Amino acid sequence: MNRIAICGGKKLSGEVRCQGSKNAALPILAATVLNPNECELTNCPDLADVSSALKIITHLGGKTEYSKYTATVNAADIHRFEIGEELMASMRSSVLFLGPMLSRLKQAVISYPGGCSIGLRPIDLHIKAFRQLGVSVEEIGGKIYCKAEKIVPARINLIFPSVGATENIMLLAALSEGETVVLNAAREPEICDLQNFLNAMGAKISGAGTETIRILGVEKLKKVKYNIMSDRIFAATCLCAVASCGGDTVLRNVNPDHISLILSMLAGAGCSISCGHDYVRIKSSERLRGLGKIMTSPYPGFPTDAQALFMSALSAADGTTVFVENIFESRYKHVPELIKMGADIIVDGRLAAVTGCNYIQGASVEAQDLRGGAALVIAGLSAIGDTIISGVSHIDRGYEHIEDTFAQLGASIKRI
Ligand code: UD1
Repeated sequence: MNRIAICGGKKLSGEVRCQGSKNAALPILAATVLNPNECELTNCPDLADVSSALKIITHLGGKTEYSKYTATVNAADIHRFEIGEELMASMRSSVLFLGPMLSRLKQAVISYPGGCSIGLRPIDLHIKAFRQLGVSVEEIGGKIYCKAEKIVPARINLIFPSVGATENIMLLAALSEGETVVLNAAREPEICDLQNFLNAMGAKISGAGTETIRILGVEKLKKVKYNIMSDRIFAATCLCAVASCGGDTVLRNVNPDHISLILSMLAGAGCSISCGHDYVRIKSSERLRGLGKIMTSPYPGFPTDAQALFMSALSAADGTTVFVENIFESRYKHVPELIKMGADIIVDGRLAAVTGCNYIQGASVEAQDLRGGAALVIAGLSAIGDTIISGVSHIDRGYEHIEDTFAQLGASIKRI
């Protein structure tokens, strides 16, 4: 059961509930390691990456439970300070445990993190910031050895607003003495959710969502119950699918403010969009229009995680769209697969020019990464004929049973 079969061409209509955010859940799960008291997380998505994070916490000595979108963590007995290669390779966000381990145990050893192969994905910004915070870091034989007697507050100017580095600094400095300031911090909504979670436990952090985050270290944290934000990239995936297939769908449990750029771009492509405070309705009844140029950039710019989704939806649009991928250097692995389905796409370095074709046709294709895989699902849903997608484990890292979501909206899609 590790392939997805789609008989394309059905309109997508009805209602679907947006899942909890993967990219918020992972740093929040890492943050539970800071707290010796129980943390209960609701709206925690049922994903392979969440289960990898829970495995890491158990390995470190914590107790975890997961049932019905609620994760419960008790990290009172955290004692192991090394994460081996296999656990580290399970996902990129394993690197976010470095800050909490150092904070609790004053030492940490990890190998290099895994995750989607969408570029080099170094962790130099994390390491540089940690050194500024008084951590000694040595890289020997593919492992990173960190030690810190004491976390020293610092003013850290990130040369790029890295999401992961911003989060790791917040995690490491939350329990320090004094005030740490992050300049040119990432502004993604998931950073705000991490700040809200840490503050709910008793941390004193302000400024998330702006370029400057202030972390006033506290001595201890308390028991907490927290509801994780909804997943804006899941929302973008459903919206792009409806835009591409046609239909009339309401997406519930979503914060329209987090996807305002995506909504206005879909409107620009010809969809009709209306919103309430926690839902979005999309209607699509005509061929989409190409959008000219789409450049990925840090939030509030166009998200790199939505690049493949839009490319898929616009493959059969009227007109051209040129994508410029500014965040990751090799994030076009879905392109050869879309071409197999009839798309007209030319890639040159960070540019991809999409000339809308008349129609996408079903084919056997392989997901190479998470969002690229979701883009192939969108293409399969809108295609004429049958599509078989392999490499589904990539998709399962970030989507709760993606086939059920679209089957609920009337698609002919199943796992085989
Ligand atoms: C997070 C998201 C991912 C999203 C990305 C950009 C999670 C779990 N993942 O990934 O879905 O695509 O943000 O919005 O939240 N970089 C360095 N050195 C570093 C750190 C990053 O050069 O130390 C580079 C990366 O290689 C990449 C760019 O900075 O080219 C962005 O990375 P970053 O913002 O850190 O993304 P992640 O936290 O890995």
